[in-house]
Amino acid sequence: MSALTLYPANQPQNGNTFRDFAGIAEQLQGIGVQFERWQADCQFSAADDAETVLKAYESSIDKLKQQYGFQSVDVTSLNADHPNKDALRQKFLSEHTHSDFEVRFFVEGKGLFYLHVGDQVYAVLCEQGDLISVPANTTHWFDMGETPAFKCIRLFTTEDGWVAEFTGNPIAESFPTLDQYLTAL
Ligand SMILES: [Fe+2]
Repeated sequence: MSALTLYPANQPQNGNTFRDFAGIAEQLQGIGVQFERWQADCQFSAADDAETVLKAYESSIDKLKQQYGFQSVDVTSLNADHPNKDALRQKFLSEHTHSDFEVRFFVEGKGLFYLHVGDQVYAVLCEQGDLISVPANTTHWFDMGETPAFKCIRLFTTEDGWVAEFTGNPIAESFPTLDQYLTAL
């Protein structure tokens, strides 16, 4: 189940958690973050290739493309047996921004986005069927966990926008990791 925990940015031990979809979506809408649940248009299996996965969600993808003018769409996945999983995890584990949207739809698996907006941190646990759109220039970080397992559809408006600019703020280190978050949930 998806979840949202709202923390004062300086009190990572003091979160208020929402578990219902409407509550999560409403809180996120307040900071310009789109959160949706998508249904597949047709059956597909975990082993299917990217083309089949994209086909299964074609109507939802087309709607978003029209809304935002996305130029490209791909499917990315990562599993715990990937030799570079630790390095890949570290890459987005520090607070950063980028000039493009970060739009992810979770075909399978899970991940935890942390959005640092004003004096609050919004930790959004995304699971299978969830779409999250983090607006351009929002300070955030992402944890895929010690044993990453996800397959995501990504949407891009530009190729160039996908360069993380790190803020240098060590705030991420004081917040629960995905594994700690799941244990406490
Ligand atoms: Fe990011």
